[in-house]
Amino acid sequence: MAKTVLITGASSGIGLAAARRLAAEGYGLILVVRPGTRFPEGTWDPARVRIAECDLSRPREVKALTGRLVSEDVPLDVVFSNAAVQPWQRQETRDGFELGLATAVLGTYGLVEGLHPLLARRANGHPPLVVVTGSLVHRWGEYDLGDLQRQRGFDPNASYYGAKLAQMQLVTHFAAAMKKEGIAVHSLEPGMTRTAFARHFRGFYRMMSLLWRPFMRAPEAVAGDFLTLIRRPDLLETSGTNWLKGKPRPLSPAARDRKAADALVEACRALIEKTA
Ligand SMILES: NC(=O)c1ccc[n+]([C@@H]2O[C@H](COP(=O)([O-])OP(=O)(O)OC[C@H]3O[C@@H](n4cnc5c(N)ncnc54)[C@H](OP(=O)(O)O)[C@@H]3O)[C@@H](O)[C@H]2O)c1
Repeated sequence: MAKTVLITGASSGIGLAAARRLAAEGYGLILVVRPGTRFPEGTWDPARVRIAECDLSRPREVKALTGRLVSEDVPLDVVFSNAAVQPWQRQETRDGFELGLATAVLGTYGLVEGLHPLLARRANGHPPLVVVTGSLVHRWGEYDLGDLQRQRGFDPNASYYGAKLAQMQLVTHFAAAMKKEGIAVHSLEPGMTRTAFARHFRGFYRMMSLLWRPFMRAPEAVAGDFLTLIRRPDLLETSGTNWLKGKPRPLSPAARDRKAADALVEACRALIEKTA
């Protein structure tokens, strides 16, 4: 039976390349895009590809989307939480959350938590799977649980690195929590990739991102890594692993810190509850 994969950030970059590759391989797809997105044309078979609109930075929208998919009991084998953004100035969502945190961290948490019932009831000869797009920079990430919204001074890199650390802690948390149910959770580190991710960068970082562009990986190469990962036979045994180019690449000690991960999860729950 063909698998169904849900991909966030599917309208561009790594998510779009993964969607195209998986569509070509015959997978069923649920492609999550921001409301109003004009989806790139391609050879999408409407029988196998569903486009779902959701602003991932808004917990209520994430809850509505996951609730809809659960109530429809859609088949779902893999969740690829890939969307993120690095705003250059501090921006707040309508819920009053810092945009980068809300998109990557609350978005990933709400998505995985909300889709958990669908994954838990899936037995397709291969463990149900969650993959989160990671980054090298999580190793430099820090955040203060008392100031998750970065109100005490905002730096775009510190904020992004902190959000990536937090996402890797979610991988640690969910891998431990879901293993007994037979659900595997992994992270995929793309390496520097030629996408539009740096579009908000300014000054020195903008210049560097343009200079480095020719040497970056193609998003199609990362899509290949994703396909290799989701086909691994040992996904459950290796759950909680971070992968780069098909090889395990250790998460930082902070990312593997179970206590810190559990505390972050409590903070995510509390923030999401505020918007209910
Ligand atoms: N490119 C790199 O060098 C690199 C390196 C390490 C890690 N990563 C990670 O790779 C992942 C994918 O990024 P990318 O490089 O492919 O960049 P990208 O082309 O900018 O993709 C990001 C995707 O996330 C979507 N997104 C952002 N905010 C959203 C929201 N609130 N609701 C719904 N969708 C939203 C974007 O949609 P819109 O266009 O509508 O905003 C876009 O489709 C990210 O997690 C990033 O941190 C990238």
